[in-house]
Amino acid sequence: MAGRIPQHFIDDLIGRTDIVELIGSRVPLKKAGREYKACCPFHDEKSPSFWVSPDKQFYHCFGCGAHGTALGFLMNYDRLAFPEAVEELATRAGVEVPREGGDDRPHDSTDALYELNARVAKHFATTLAGDARARAYVGKRGLDAESVARFQIGFATNSWNEVLRKFGRDAAATRQLAELGLVIEREGEARDGERHYDRFRDRLMFPIRDARGRTIAFGGRVIGEGEPKYLNSPETPLFHKGRELYGLYEVRQSRARLTRLLVVEGYIDVVRLHQAGIRYAVATLGTATTPEHLKRIFRLVSEVVFAFDGDRAGRAAAWRALANALPEVREGREIRFLFLPEGHDPDTLVAEEGAQAFERRLDDALPLSEYLVRELAAQADLGHADGRAHFAELARPLVARVAAGVYRELLIARIAESIRLPADRLAALWQQGGRAASAPTQAPASASRVARSPRLRQGVAGRRGLVGQAVQALLHHPSAAAQLDAALIEALARVEEPGVSILRELLDDLRRDPAATTAQILERWRDRAEGPRLAHLAMEESLVPGPKAAAEEIATALARLAATAAKRRVEALLAKSQGPGLSTEEKIELQALMTAPAPPAGAIRHPRP
Ligand code: UTP
Ligand code: MN
Repeated sequence: MAGRIPQHFIDDLIGRTDIVELIGSRVPLKKAGREYKACCPFHDEKSPSFWVSPDKQFYHCFGCGAHGTALGFLMNYDRLAFPEAVEELATRAGVEVPREGGDDRPHDSTDALYELNARVAKHFATTLAGDARARAYVGKRGLDAESVARFQIGFATNSWNEVLRKFGRDAAATRQLAELGLVIEREGEARDGERHYDRFRDRLMFPIRDARGRTIAFGGRVIGEGEPKYLNSPETPLFHKGRELYGLYEVRQSRARLTRLLVVEGYIDVVRLHQAGIRYAVATLGTATTPEHLKRIFRLVSEVVFAFDGDRAGRAAAWRALANALPEVREGREIRFLFLPEGHDPDTLVAEEGAQAFERRLDDALPLSEYLVRELAAQADLGHADGRAHFAELARPLVARVAAGVYRELLIARIAESIRLPADRLAALWQQGGRAASAPTQAPASASRVARSPRLRQGVAGRRGLVGQAVQALLHHPSAAAQLDAALIEALARVEEPGVSILRELLDDLRRDPAATTAQILERWRDRAEGPRLAHLAMEESLVPGPKAAAEEIATALARLAATAAKRRVEALLAKSQGPGLSTEEKIELQALMTAPAPPAGAIRHPRP
């Protein structure tokens, strides 16, 4: 029986998918400002009202109201059921869809699982030694015998049941293999009495080890061409890929003093770099770099260089890594970005130019602050005051993720310099946070589109409660959550408006995962009663032009909600004091409430259209 698809997997899948590319492969899209448009594929029209937003990873049609995420698009356009749409995206991304809790039999002790993985890894290694074709491929990829041994690279033969037969002698052993993702349960009838088949067939096998050297999973590469190029173990009791770094164990085995880590994207990149003598290379396992990765890295070293391909996918991955790294930057830590020439990955580059030249590139890699400034400058015209204000606005939520301290001050100074403003003036502007202070005079295309359309305008500015406004602003600009004062969010605990629990959940979620896109949030709510309502709010155009304005709008709403809740509580306590009287705690509470400062003025003067 197939179990539920874990939410974190869907999250990750949405994170890896580019909706523009996905829809673009089916519908001809034209770039229009920051978004893309087309004639809507879901209704008949002559002029385009179908928009795809790369920021939100969301599409919507102003004509017929169709809207959704990449998954939603596949469901509607390819007419797929939800699990099929997930499968489709997973196939594009080259990953297996994991299932959780397929059965409720008790799990085996993890020791036994580690031990079984170790035996299977050894089996794959032995198989490689005896297989001429696989060995030839290894040779063609330039991996020498020492690397093969060091990384215990192996080979899974082209068999449906070799691992099953060798290691799954009885039902208990087979169950362990299934738990490790080494065999897969058949959907239909058993064949020749076998209910399972091997996951990895005809693939070069890379054991993924934890920092202690225990094999926790495998990555398998097709020999030559084929789809998917890499097949990884699913999430198992031993393996959570958002946490692991391929090669970390081998890095720690090397005797050299460890001062920095190089993070690359591929297994072969890691092996080739180690082979070339760059024995501090690790790879994320087909996922974005997560804050958890960064935490692990900085426990070991104070310097990390990320190497990315120079193509669009590489740049997108780099920007995500930057967003996830911001909470971890501080004085004394160095985070830099290396963009490789187009068409190269670390594997081919180090082979071509050698370790020394490669390390020179590492030495010259862009510091995080420079990369950040360069990227933002590409989005704003620094030649004009408007552009510089826009730049400041783009930078603010990013800077807000950096812990207060020397590094943040330096970063602010660097940003101020690029917009030719004294640093204290910029800091003051951000602090003040008033719209008038730094609002771009030029509204984004989407906002002006709304302003022109009375019907849409009604939709946004119409009677929506404070909770609804805050939820919508968050959905449009998830990064705003990171800018909010924790005290404002905590104060929500006393608020009893309808929908406030949803707002709190969104805020909590986004504070844990500040880089989430609109699409990721919506997918997390897909199965909940409120899912469609949230999707609708995300589709409706909002007049809030950016994360900064969104943070303000939300802060205002939160402050007002808290003020109303406090006022109600005071009234209730006063009424009670007239009647049955107050307990000591209630008296203290009342006193505290009556003397509490009013919400900051900036948070309540908010002109609504
Ligand atoms: P790349 O497609 O850049 O491959 O994927 P590569 O590492 O350069 O591989 P070679 O050189 O063609 O052999 C980078 C990494 O992304 C993950 C793997 O971890 C891979 O090493 N990936 C890629 C997958 O998980 N599945 C895929 O289908 C492709
Ligand atoms: Mn490669």
